[in-house]
Amino acid sequence: MPPSTTWATRPDLSDIERFWTAPIDERAAAFAALREREPVPFFAEPEFAYLPQGPGYWALTRLDDLVEASRNAKVFTSGPGATNVADMPPEFLEFYGSMINTDDPRHARLRRIVSRGFTPKRLAGLTDEVQATATRIVDDLVDAGECDAVSAISARLPLKIVCDMMGVPESQYDFVFRTSNVILGASDPEYVPDADNILVALLNAGNELAELMRDLGRHRERHPTDDVTSALVNAEIDGERLTPDELASFFILLVVAGNETTRNAVSWGLKLLTDHPEQRRVWLDDLDGVTPTAVEEIVRWASPVIFMRRTLAVDAVLGGQPMTAGDKVLLFYWAANRDPAHFRDPDAFDVRRSPNPHVGFGGAGPHFCLGAHLARREMAVMFRELLTRVPDIHATAEPRRLQSMFINGIKSMPVSIR
Ligand code: HEM
Repeated sequence: MPPSTTWATRPDLSDIERFWTAPIDERAAAFAALREREPVPFFAEPEFAYLPQGPGYWALTRLDDLVEASRNAKVFTSGPGATNVADMPPEFLEFYGSMINTDDPRHARLRRIVSRGFTPKRLAGLTDEVQATATRIVDDLVDAGECDAVSAISARLPLKIVCDMMGVPESQYDFVFRTSNVILGASDPEYVPDADNILVALLNAGNELAELMRDLGRHRERHPTDDVTSALVNAEIDGERLTPDELASFFILLVVAGNETTRNAVSWGLKLLTDHPEQRRVWLDDLDGVTPTAVEEIVRWASPVIFMRRTLAVDAVLGGQPMTAGDKVLLFYWAANRDPAHFRDPDAFDVRRSPNPHVGFGGAGPHFCLGAHLARREMAVMFRELLTRVPDIHATAEPRRLQSMFINGIKSMPVSIR
């Protein structure tokens, strides 16, 4: 049940228009104050048109609490919805009922099947493609001299890799890009201008992506290739394969989880290098040595996924806070990644930070990011290519940030290579 405590200065984490568009250092200061004074605060939920307002949520701001909730998936469940504060209406489940929103045993079964797409062998097979795509992106950048970092650099690599993995033809890349923007940018008026239309826009985007995947799945059943879609609809491992609906919702999850996250990590990385020339020099001086820690630091600092939600299966106490079965808990990765109990000088960007026990890819539970290795590889290759060939690349204006409490996104940011 919600506590009665309120402070005049207490931020409202559900105020998407104000809190989540405020400057990043204000956001960090607000979370720091919460973490110190009230580390597991309770908030009313944001209002969404046509959805009944839910009972509110507990917000986790400390890394230890977040890790405990992530690991304890029997108590902190994902079935009622991990990616939204509000419970999903039943009609959404067809498109958005993917494994991220399930619990065992269903989650374990789905994860076992789709993990075939992420074996070390399959990832090694993508290495050449990741390098070739990064090279092409920087070729174009060298020709142009200046561009929008998001559309010309950060969005292109993950889009190409996710689509290639699944066998989506190049003619559909724009469509995939636009629909995934709607799915993750629905709370930003630029993507869905009329807030009353958010649910319809989400359903339409899900439906269109599902249609693309069902067509592709049917085709691959008859004409298998070496892509992941063929493996998921044909290969019978332990007698298991995905149904057409499961394939469609997995594709939507991949498109969203694999694109926007890596895209925003790369965009924030460019912004951080612009703001911290001394860190750029450290990285440039030892590309091989520093790239692995720099990639982790960008993910920590940016925390492209701001939160995931869990729902209490039974009464529990977390961080000293008693909670009741049915309560919602938001795991604020963004805040935990700045917990001074684990990160020295947490607001600093330090490309050699070590240790760096960040939870940007999740807190080590069963839902830990399936694409973490791939994301790290994409980021490492992209930044190596940029720092080797256009080492002075920098933002020439502030980024336009996404209005969202779920994704720490950059919509556009002009950069120049000189
Ligand atoms: C910097 C890039 C990325 C970040 C920050 C990120 C972050 C996350 C986070 C926070 C979770 C939830 C973890 C949890 O609930 O414990 C997650 C889950 C997931 N991610 Fe990522 N991710 C990234 C890239 C990718 C990529 C490239 C892919 C695939 C192509 C991917 C696929 C997934 C999938 C399928 C899940 C759901 C796993 C499950 O429910 O079992 N992610 N990711």
